[in-house]
Amino acid sequence: MPLTDSDPDWWRDAVVYQVYPRSFADGSGDGVGDLPGLISRLPRLAELGVDAIWISPWYRSPMADAGYDVADYRDIDPLFGTLADADKLLAAAHELGLRVIIDIVPNHCSDQHPWFRAAVAAGPGSAERELFHFRSGDELPNDWPSAFGGPAWTRVDSDSAEDWYLHLFSPGQPDFNWDHPEVRAEFESILRFWFERGVDGFRIDVANLLIKQRGLPSRAPLDAAGEPSPYEDRPEVHDIYRGWRRVANSYVGTRIFVGELWVHPDSLKRYLRPDELHTGFNFPYLQAPWQAAELRSIIDSTLALHAEVGAPPTWVLGNHDVTRVVTRYGREDTSWTEPAGRLVVPSDLELGTRRARAAALLYLALPGCAYIYQGEELGLWEVEDIPAELRQDPTFFQTQGANPGRDGCRVPLPWEAGETWFGFGTSGTAEPWLPQPEAWRAYAADAQADDPSSVLALYRDALRLRHSVDGDLDWVESSADVLRFRRGAGFECLVNLGSEAVPLPAGAEIVLGSAPISGGTLPSDTAVWLRG
Ligand code: GLC
Repeated sequence: MPLTDSDPDWWRDAVVYQVYPRSFADGSGDGVGDLPGLISRLPRLAELGVDAIWISPWYRSPMADAGYDVADYRDIDPLFGTLADADKLLAAAHELGLRVIIDIVPNHCSDQHPWFRAAVAAGPGSAERELFHFRSGDELPNDWPSAFGGPAWTRVDSDSAEDWYLHLFSPGQPDFNWDHPEVRAEFESILRFWFERGVDGFRIDVANLLIKQRGLPSRAPLDAAGEPSPYEDRPEVHDIYRGWRRVANSYVGTRIFVGELWVHPDSLKRYLRPDELHTGFNFPYLQAPWQAAELRSIIDSTLALHAEVGAPPTWVLGNHDVTRVVTRYGREDTSWTEPAGRLVVPSDLELGTRRARAAALLYLALPGCAYIYQGEELGLWEVEDIPAELRQDPTFFQTQGANPGRDGCRVPLPWEAGETWFGFGTSGTAEPWLPQPEAWRAYAADAQADDPSSVLALYRDALRLRHSVDGDLDWVESSADVLRFRRGAGFECLVNLGSEAVPLPAGAEIVLGSAPISGGTLPSDTAVWLRG
């Protein structure tokens, strides 16, 4: 059962921890993280002080895109466990006071999904193919690219002139035709299946892509005419989410949606209207450079646009798709832009760590929800030297290795410094699916737990103190490289993003600092929380 509605507004300021299940903890000993592993570590997340977890896809899948290619939306992949494990997990999390958000992948399924297999078997022109986007012809049906490289079309049978099918991601991920009523009905039924099992919400994968422009026109002539994209952010998508919201509202407890919305901020607010999604990821903040004026302007515009629709903002530093924040902030260009962000460029990890610590105190002090991507609380960095033969991300293969892909932010977590595989699996079991850097021994959770200067302790302290931070954000004018704001009467956050130390306000009591503070000044790339 879900946590009953002791707090119907729990999602408005929740801290949500993203679990990437294959890399979190391995309970079965096969080298891949799973639900028994996650269940065993849930108390660690409760101790950290998060309010909810979001679990990346756990469904039955051939894993062409690490589970974002779903073959059965109502079952757990054997790699991760069973439905009974999912039920156990929900019960254990709720027992600890943690809400559970799961991923739903509505834009596409797996090419092994029974609907797609039936469509392939039924042949051109069949009713089964109407559930997807099939097209005939000698040429590619249009110029749409796959997000992972190459065209978004593959022939059903590469040896014949059979139909093409659309896949905005890998060929193993055919796009559904969302104009078809059966697709709509099926997803509402899937939502109900999981709501009834007790999940508290869904993170919606590529939530802005579902609807395609009728006729599937090429982008080129539309771009030239300044027309919107034929497959992104189409206005008809909102109708789908109004339907989903009605489903969520029909259950006890507040069940919520968070959309993965790589859209312009003006569009974002349309998804967050009171009868649509509760929240959406704030990617402009994640993409921003470590630079005071830029961050301030994004904070202001984010707060303003969310206030218009009455939705809480979300603040995010990373996820399983982007280069880890420690590595990004240690680079000369600290902004995140695809595909440049994935190029392996030099990074000063010491500087990146210092900034990531300050960034943690900044984003956790902002009003709204915050997301922590697993490993951020340990100060982990992007692993950039994974050998080609061990890489698994389709981005790497679809770009013939030109783009290293996302494996570097998905390396299994270190839990205990003294254990085999740093406690990711149990000793004597299979090697983790991606190799962990030896340097992570010192970053294992148990090595940090009792060290008050560790990144883990910083997150734990911040999450504890955050509960008493309330009220709107009020800027306090400061020098150009400093962000300084108050929340309510007694709380102030000060971040120095410049290269020189700046004076701290006289008489203020420091309750938390991202680095040691002495002599009345705030060093470069350091943040403090003040009281009084
Ligand atoms: C989202 C996911 C990403 C996945 C893609 C296709 O962007 O976060 O990991 O590859 O959708 O499902």
